[in-house]
Amino acid sequence: MKKSKKIIFANWKMKLGLKETFDLAKGIKEKFKDFDNGKIVVCPNFVPLLEVKKILKDSNIMVGAQNVFWETRGSYTGEISPLTLVEAGCEYVILGHSERRKFMMENYEMIHRKIKAIMAVEGLTPIVCIGENWDERKTDRRDFVLYDQIQQALSGIDIAANQEIVVAYEPIWAIGSGTAIEPSEAEYAHKIVRLTLNDMFGMKVVNENFKIIYGGSINSKNVKSFTGLEDLGGLLVGGASLDPEEFYKVAKATLI
Ligand code: 13P
Repeated sequence: MKKSKKIIFANWKMKLGLKETFDLAKGIKEKFKDFDNGKIVVCPNFVPLLEVKKILKDSNIMVGAQNVFWETRGSYTGEISPLTLVEAGCEYVILGHSERRKFMMENYEMIHRKIKAIMAVEGLTPIVCIGENWDERKTDRRDFVLYDQIQQALSGIDIAANQEIVVAYEPIWAIGSGTAIEPSEAEYAHKIVRLTLNDMFGMKVVNENFKIIYGGSINSKNVKSFTGLEDLGGLLVGGASLDPEEFYKVAKATLI
């Protein structure tokens, strides 16, 4: 069977304790043991990372982180270096999630610095989160917001031929709401993202080095209406990734 090029990311946020994280990793490993049709990446928080990596040894499931700092070493108390993430076996890192933008005051200047730092390190791929809030959506400012976020995050970033950047469109108003947006609306937003990227990097680079994915209340019931979207490179899944059975159904429906 031809492998799907799509990627499914599980963002476990700060929803689990250590034992719960390990149990979930074991459950997902078991559930996906015969699954070889695309990439699955789980993103626990920092403390359980090494153990999760160990648990997932001899499986196809990769590990990502939920954040990183923009320097590789130095006096930055409480921060994590991209080099440490690579040493820990991480292959992806979520950047600028809307929850960090909201609670940690992370902005796109910081996200830009983080992307730059990651691109300079071998073996790490950034998942750059963008998305409008409800107010911006309601007042028809979404297109500009997405354009502006992408410009701020990615202007002047050098991409080597073998490097990839994942752009995750996560409308803030859909995250954790239990209701995903209309697939046609996601398709429209993805088009805006692609056109903006085309303008900045050219179509060839965008086709070869970028993936555009959707996140926001995806579950096993609504996932099928997203899988056929023209520009969908994968999904960033929150709540539905906390149950192996539910996560498996989402992955199975997407990675066909
Ligand atoms: P939910 O799937 O729980 O809405 O979370 C989405 C998300 O924020 C993934 O990063």
